[in-house]
Amino acid sequence: MKAIVARQSLPADHPDALVDVELPVPVPGPRDVLVEVKAVSVNPVDTKVRAGMPAEPGEGRVLGWDAAGVVKAVGREVTLFKPGDEVWYAGDLTRPGSNAEWQVVDERIVGHKPATLGFAEAAALPLTSITAWELLFDRLEVGSGVGKRLLVVGAAGGVGSILLQLARAMTSLTVIATASRPETMAWVREMGAHEVIDHREPLNEGLQRLGITEVDYVVSLNQTDRHFDAIVAALKPQGKLALIDDPKPLDVLKLKRKSLSLHWAFMYTRSMFATDDMIRQHELLEHVAERVDAGQLRTTLTRHLGALSAATLRDAHGYIETGKALGKVVLEWR
Ligand SMILES: NC(=O)c1ccc[n+]([C@@H]2O[C@H](COP(=O)([O-])OP(=O)(O)OC[C@H]3O[C@@H](n4cnc5c(N)ncnc54)[C@H](OP(=O)(O)O)[C@@H]3O)[C@@H](O)[C@H]2O)c1
Repeated sequence: MKAIVARQSLPADHPDALVDVELPVPVPGPRDVLVEVKAVSVNPVDTKVRAGMPAEPGEGRVLGWDAAGVVKAVGREVTLFKPGDEVWYAGDLTRPGSNAEWQVVDERIVGHKPATLGFAEAAALPLTSITAWELLFDRLEVGSGVGKRLLVVGAAGGVGSILLQLARAMTSLTVIATASRPETMAWVREMGAHEVIDHREPLNEGLQRLGITEVDYVVSLNQTDRHFDAIVAALKPQGKLALIDDPKPLDVLKLKRKSLSLHWAFMYTRSMFATDDMIRQHELLEHVAERVDAGQLRTTLTRHLGALSAATLRDAHGYIETGKALGKVVLEWR
């Protein structure tokens, strides 16, 4: 099968940063489905894993952790899927990724793709939907959110774009998003933000200008270390902060006075440790698909880079590394 691998740590625009190779088609384990990958999206995790490859060229690793495709075969213990099913998933960080024509993935972290979306539109969503869902409902436990305020920092990127939609579709939270450019400010409003503030200035000052003195929840998606003091200032006593990025060390003592709680969300925890509730990712993907098909959630695809190859994938990595992604970038096997 055709696949694209990273063999060593090189800048995205280096011709050897990602290379086209031929690999054997993988064989599904007992609980795996074998998927013919149709479309993938690229996330910051792809660029971080590429950057973390050894300096010297090695065997190589298939990256890519967002896909939509068709089930072609199933392992002997699989009960949730059958050949021919159209599926979407974000895969498992410890296994070969989706930048290949075929991939095996545990059925407990796979969902049926929304019927109303094409493969490219669908591939934009799984990783960010799982992350956003786990942030809101498993970590912050926002519930119905009635009478509560949520601040989403760095909201125009992949995770923020679906998190805003989920917060509006599934809760009564008042949602304030941060963005720094006219196009990202307009986008976060389109995705559901009630209010927008600029993360180039202290967040609590932006909130005060809106007449908002405090918020109940903060989801911090980008540059958390830079915004940490303003987040602590903005949170209500006993409020909750959840984060997903890779900040410089944070001083958690600053959370003590207000009894603020800190929640990490890492969407690979469940698959990496095969947790007892791993199947919750299957369930939430099914739920998100139903809401997409009901017209309550939409794809966050904003940039289609055409046919998947090492060259187009390098372009996608370069775009993500600008730190200015709006929505999601996708590619398709053709
Ligand atoms: N733990 C997990 O499970 C998990 C899952 C997914 C992602 N992540 C991590 O979470 C982070 C966000 O992921 P993503 O996919 O949403 O990224 P992304 O799409 O690359 O995010 C791009 C957005 O970041 C915003 N941004 C740039 N500078 C900022 C700043 N100083 N403060 C706040 N926002 C800023 C930009 O908004 P403007 O252009 O308006 O400035 C842009 O829209 C990444 O580090 C990623 O690796 C973790």
